[in-house]
Amino acid sequence: MRLSESSALAAATAAAPQDRVLAQDRFAQVRGHSLALAEPLSDEDQCVQSMPDASPTKWHLAHTSWFFEAVVLGPHWPAYRAFDRRFGHLFNSYYESLGARHPRPQRGLLTRPSLAEVHAYRQHVDDAVSRFIAEAGPEAWQAVAPLIELGLNHEQQHQELILTDVLHLLSCNPLLPAYRAADPRQLRLAEAQEGAEWIAMPGGAAQAGHAGEGFAFDNETPRHPVLLAPYRIADRLVTCGEYARFIADGGYEQPTLWLSDGWAAVQAGGWKHPLYWILPGDVRAPASHWQVFGLGGAQALDAAAPVTQLSFYEASAYALWADARLPTEFEWEAAAAAPGMRQMTGHAWQWTRSSYDPYPGFRPLAGAVSEYNGKFMVGQLVLRGGSIATPAGHTRASYRNFFPPGARWQFSGLRLARDGA
Ligand code: AVJ
Ligand code: FE
Repeated sequence: MRLSESSALAAATAAAPQDRVLAQDRFAQVRGHSLALAEPLSDEDQCVQSMPDASPTKWHLAHTSWFFEAVVLGPHWPAYRAFDRRFGHLFNSYYESLGARHPRPQRGLLTRPSLAEVHAYRQHVDDAVSRFIAEAGPEAWQAVAPLIELGLNHEQQHQELILTDVLHLLSCNPLLPAYRAADPRQLRLAEAQEGAEWIAMPGGAAQAGHAGEGFAFDNETPRHPVLLAPYRIADRLVTCGEYARFIADGGYEQPTLWLSDGWAAVQAGGWKHPLYWILPGDVRAPASHWQVFGLGGAQALDAAAPVTQLSFYEASAYALWADARLPTEFEWEAAAAAPGMRQMTGHAWQWTRSSYDPYPGFRPLAGAVSEYNGKFMVGQLVLRGGSIATPAGHTRASYRNFFPPGARWQFSGLRLARDGA
């Protein structure tokens, strides 16, 4: 580069408003992290779909790019040329307003486009968004900056799904391959925790929902008053050691501990333990003790690590067995502001006893993204916190994750609550 060019570039960079420079950095960081997560995987690993709920890594990489095309580039940049117009059909997940799409259970049949083509698709979208951030006029930037932020938070949700979906895929292989030997995320789960303390919460009037300046999903709003009765909440998550006692006590054989739908799921699925627990003597990984399959492969059960890969039904049965209950999402959120709470985020998502409902006064976002959250507000339960698979900084105390009660392939566990202070 000639000196005059480099000083012109320096001048242009200096002239770029600070928010655009930050947006460029953040965009590059988040987009790059998705590729980094796929890095330990082979091309074959990235194409297969292990169940209808889980998607291939390749599909996640493409869908998150499609989201920027469908929400940012297509509607807001008239000169944008799609990488391949047919990709809308392949990589639209569930947006009815954006047209017909490939059936979810058949995402693993998409051997074409190839992984290399999906990488080229990502690059095309990256270049376009980056140019858009640099060149958009003030009004276009005003309109689009929040949508880019939504696209990045969307991508982070899919980063967690890449890990949970790949873990499910690998768990289906009798070789029980590790996603990555000694994965640092898995090690974080093993952080030893002392006995649980009950934190007394006075209850009373509280506020729930997102407040303040930063990004939040529409389902965290509006902030609104809630009324809480006095309660106690455990300062840490239920551990594998505690859950093993529930199993040894016949927890999976006592229908009176289970919700009716939960007991039906136990029967239909032959559930005897959390999804990735490996019985002593299992031919896939012979050992005389329980093991748990995780991102680092099969490892001896760590009694002090939080139990994960639980359905809501299992969390609910355990809580009843422990003479306790699950906290509501509002009890959880109030406790997040109390001193002494441990493992609130970064370990496991925590099932709450709250259905995923709209807050009073909820209004979905405008346009196609109105379908992002609101239309799923029936028949699902709220989880709070964040897991070892959640990208750092992605969640906050008001964050609402949600899954149907039978879902158990996420890093989902529980924290106990009891009535009365
Ligand atoms: C919040 C994890 C339930 O899996 O559909 C991804 C995240 N939303 N794309 C999901 C999401 C749109 C969502 N969960
Ligand atoms: Fe999505």
